[in-house]
Amino acid sequence: MLSYEKPLVRLVQQHKICDQLTYVFNMTLQGLDCILGKEQLVALEMTNLYSFSAICNLILSLEEGPMMDKILEEFHTWARGLQCWPINLPGFTYYKALKARGLIGELFDGLMEQRRQEIAEGRVPEALQTDILNSLLTVPDEEGNLRQDSFIKDNLLFLLEAGSDSSSSTLALVIFYIAKNPHVYKQILQEQKSILDEKRSSGKKENELTMEDISAMTYTWRVIQETLRLHPVQIVGYKKTVTNFEYKGYHIPKGWLLNWTTQTHYSPKYFKDPLKFDPSRWETRPPPFTYLPFGGGPHTCLGNEFARMSMLVFIHHLVRNYTWSLVDPSYDGPFIRDPVFARTQDKVLINVKQIITS
Ligand code: HEM
Repeated sequence: MLSYEKPLVRLVQQHKICDQLTYVFNMTLQGLDCILGKEQLVALEMTNLYSFSAICNLILSLEEGPMMDKILEEFHTWARGLQCWPINLPGFTYYKALKARGLIGELFDGLMEQRRQEIAEGRVPEALQTDILNSLLTVPDEEGNLRQDSFIKDNLLFLLEAGSDSSSSTLALVIFYIAKNPHVYKQILQEQKSILDEKRSSGKKENELTMEDISAMTYTWRVIQETLRLHPVQIVGYKKTVTNFEYKGYHIPKGWLLNWTTQTHYSPKYFKDPLKFDPSRWETRPPPFTYLPFGGGPHTCLGNEFARMSMLVFIHHLVRNYTWSLVDPSYDGPFIRDPVFARTQDKVLINVKQIITS
């Protein structure tokens, strides 16, 4: 079991770091020489690398390199163990996952030791002073004590898990829908270009995205919203009732587990022609609690703002610098979903070309 504490994970919301995300995007594409060197690319491989780098950067201020590669490798082995029979014998997935978790813990130990030393010597670079690792090491709990190492490691692993595959599988599907719908690509490009034009005309640096620019990406965000409507990362979740209550004549006792679902995303009652990919439907808001890609209530996704930013930054740079098309233009699913996390596993193949002048 992982343990994590809400006030601490709330820190995720405080990180609004467009510049860092732009940097992560550039590093990701440099790392993927296949973008320029090879003809075809699996969309999910590119978005996986970007999202994992973005979350590593957010929580650990870790850049791409051997340490991140090692964490990523062990992370995949650990994640496979979240949905297998718990047979703790050599060769079994569960056994490998436990081993991977131990190794990730050792890597975290090294990072924590190094950071503690930097904190003690007062030489933590400014950019690192607000990352999640720093906060977990320095912000005391409610009783004024510093956190236990096991607690810190649980939180770090939980955030890696919650924040990487969710954004990457969504982005891979956004790439698919953009390739499939030229009118959508045209509108996104137009929106992103007008943001750049505005920056140029007001003398701002065009490579430095601001929160204002992110807020201007209205249409691009609608495309992501529509993708999340059709392919919510989590299709069901559970909430435990903390008190007895009545709902529509039913008595719900304290302590019951109730489940919420994203089934309403496909209801014609709330979304006209629900199976159609149509970002324009987001010109108006759907009724409350009919659209739940980030869940709802007190345990709603804590990283939703970071996820929004990181996905918008990714698409901004992608459409600015590259064009792409589906290797199989007739491909239209079916979309493969991870049975537990409902994430896409699709190997959507794309051809990517760099745009020389944007
Ligand atoms: C497209 C991206 C993402 C989607 C669709 C998504 C979706 C979700 C959903 C459905 C939940 C469950 C909410 C509930 O039960 O009401 C959740 C929880 C959570 N997510 Fe996300 N998430 C995304 C990205 C992220 C990122 C980037 C982070 C971290 C930086 C993150 C951190 C969390 C945390 C910490 C929780 C647990 C909240 C709690 O239990 O209080 N998520 N997310």
